[in-house]
Amino acid sequence: MDVKTWLKQAKTQIDSLDAELIALRSFAPSRADRSWLVAHGEKKVEALRTRADGMLQKRKAGMPLAYVLGEKEFYGRKFVVKPSVLIPRPETETLIELVKGLRLPKQPNFLEIGTGSGCIAITLALEYPQSIVVASDLSSKALEVAERNDLQHEGRVELVRSNLLKDFDFGEYPEHFDVVVANLPYVNKDWAWVDERNLEFEPSNAIYARGNNGLSVYQRFLRELSYFGGSDGVWVDYLVLEADPCQHSKLIEMARKAGFVHLKTEGYGLLFESTWRYWYDYRAKGYIHKPERVLMKERETGKISFIEEELGSLEE
Ligand SMILES: C[S@@+](CC[C@H](N)C(=O)[O-])C[C@H]1O[C@@H](n2cnc3c(N)ncnc32)[C@H](O)[C@@H]1O
Repeated sequence: MDVKTWLKQAKTQIDSLDAELIALRSFAPSRADRSWLVAHGEKKVEALRTRADGMLQKRKAGMPLAYVLGEKEFYGRKFVVKPSVLIPRPETETLIELVKGLRLPKQPNFLEIGTGSGCIAITLALEYPQSIVVASDLSSKALEVAERNDLQHEGRVELVRSNLLKDFDFGEYPEHFDVVVANLPYVNKDWAWVDERNLEFEPSNAIYARGNNGLSVYQRFLRELSYFGGSDGVWVDYLVLEADPCQHSKLIEMARKAGFVHLKTEGYGLLFESTWRYWYDYRAKGYIHKPERVLMKERETGKISFIEEELGSLEE
C-alpha cells in the first residue's frame, strides 16, 4: 500500500485533515508538512501501516486527535500530551497574554498551580528566560508529563507535587512571586452546554469541580492563598485565573474576599492584583511605594502596617 491509498481509505472513516495529520505523523519525517503527502503519494508504507491503522482506529472511536498524535501546540510550541493531562486549550493562551501585559521585573518569579502538561509554566519560563518558575499538580501522572515537556523545553521549571498550596515547603522557594497563575478544574457537570462525551477521554479531576457552580476548587485555593501574607508566608503581586465567563462575577467576588482586586478580564482569563502587595523590594532590599497607599512588613517580626504618604524607595 502507498501513502495515497492509505489516505484515501482513511478519509472515508475520519475527518480528512485528521487523516492527513495521522499519515504525516506515521509516514513522514518529523518536520514535514502536508505538502509532503502530495509529493510522496506513491511511497510504500506497508511496514509503517500498523501504527497508522492503530491511530486511525483510536480517532474513529472518538479519542481526541491530540491524544492520538500524542502532542498539542500551545502558544506556538509543541507539548507532549497523554490521557493523564488536560489537552491545552487555545483559550488558555490568554493567561500568557495577561501576564505579558504586566510590567514585571527582568527576573520575575512565577508560580503555577495545577500545571497538567506544564504548558503554562513552561511557556512562561521560555517567554521570560531569566525567570524562576515553580509549578505544581496533585496528579503524579500529570507531573510526569510536565517533566517530560519541561526537559524538551530547556528544563527550567521546578515541579512539585502538592494539593493546591498545602504540601509546599515554601522555605525552599522564593518568598515573593510576581505572578501566581492557575487554571484549576471549574466545569460544572450540570451546565446545559456541557457535553460530557466530548470530555470523556480527559481526566475528570482536571476538568470538573463539584459544588459552588464549579468554583469549589478555586474557593479552596483562594482561601489558602489569602493566608499567604502571613509571617512565614509567600508574597504575591498578581494572580491570573481561568474560569468560564459565567463564573467570572462570582470568582471576582471570591478573590476580593481573599485580598485580590480585579484588574482585567480577557476571554476566559481574569487578572487580579493583591491588595496585600506590600512592596518590600527584594532586589533593592528596601520598602518601595505604591501610589495609593503603602503597606510595610517588618521583615523580622512579620508585622504589617499602613503608611499614608508615598515613601519612594528606601535603601536598607
Ligand atoms: C484544567 S487542568 C489545567 C492544566 C494546565 N494548566 C492547562 O492549562 O492546560 C487542571 C489541573 O489542576 C490539577 N488539579 C486538580 N485539583 C488539584 C489540586 N487540589 N491541587 C493541585 N492540582 C490540582 C489537575 O490534575 C489538572 O492537571
